[in-house]
Amino acid sequence: MNLARRTMNAPALAAVYERIWRPTLFYLASGRGTGADRRFAVDSLRLDKAHRVLDIACGPGNFTHYLSEYVPSDGYVTGIDYSPPMLARALADNAGPRAGYVRGDARFLPFADGTFDAVCCFGALYLIPDPLVAAREMVRVLAPGGRLAVTTSYRPDNPIGELTRHTAAVSGLRMFDGRIFPELFASAGLVDIDQQTHRFFQYITASRPETNAAERGNGRPAAANHAH
Ligand SMILES: C[S@@+](CC[C@H](N)C(=O)[O-])C[C@H]1O[C@@H](n2cnc3c(N)ncnc32)[C@H](O)[C@@H]1O
Repeated sequence: MNLARRTMNAPALAAVYERIWRPTLFYLASGRGTGADRRFAVDSLRLDKAHRVLDIACGPGNFTHYLSEYVPSDGYVTGIDYSPPMLARALADNAGPRAGYVRGDARFLPFADGTFDAVCCFGALYLIPDPLVAAREMVRVLAPGGRLAVTTSYRPDNPIGELTRHTAAVSGLRMFDGRIFPELFASAGLVDIDQQTHRFFQYITASRPETNAAERGNGRPAAANHAH
C-alpha cells in the first residue's frame, strides 16, 4: 500500500480530514473552498430529482450528509468507502435520516446496474489503483436519465503539469490529463459532458441518456471544456 492509501486508512487523518485536511489541501490544489465544491455537487447532480444517490469514496461523509439535505423527502444518499477509520468518522459525524454508509471498493461496487439517480466521486480517483475501472463502475450503477459528477486531479499539458506528475507520484497520487475521463464517459454513452479545470483539479459532469445512442439515432456531443 502506498503512502497516500496508508494515510487514508489512518485514524488520525480521519479525525482532522473534514475540518483541516480537506479545506487546506483542496484549496491549494484547486483554489476553491469546500462551500464552492458543495454547491457544484448539489447543482450538477440535480438532487431535487435524485431519490437514490451514491457518494463513492465518501471519506468521513463530508459530502454525503450535505447532499442528503437536498434530496426529496423520500430520497437517500449512500456513502461508500474502503477505509474503516473514515467510515467510523462518517457514522459519528455525518449520519442522518437520509444518509448512510457502506464499506466497499469503488472498483467493485456492490450494487446492481442502474441503481442510482445520481452518482458522484469527489477527490478520490487519483488514489484508486485502477481509476478507469472505478469510473466505469460509476457509469454502470447510474440509472437512465441520471447525473454523474467527478472531481479529480488535473495535469495541465505544460512543464508545470509534468512536474506535478512526478511530485504526486512520490506519494502514490495520479495526475490525469484533461481528456481521459470525458473520453471514457463519452465512449460509455454518457451525454451533456462538461468539464471545468481549476488549477490542478478537474470537475466533470455528465448525464446518462434516458434512451441509448442507437435509439436516439445520432452521435454523441463533444465535451464542453472551461478552464478557470
Ligand atoms: C481524499 S478522500 C475524499 C473524501 C470526500 N469524497 C471528499 O471529497 O472530501 C479519498 C477517499 O477515497 C477513499 N478510497 C480510496 N480508494 C478507494 C477505493 N478503491 N474504494 C473506496 N474508497 C476508496 C479513501 O478511503 C478516502 O476516504
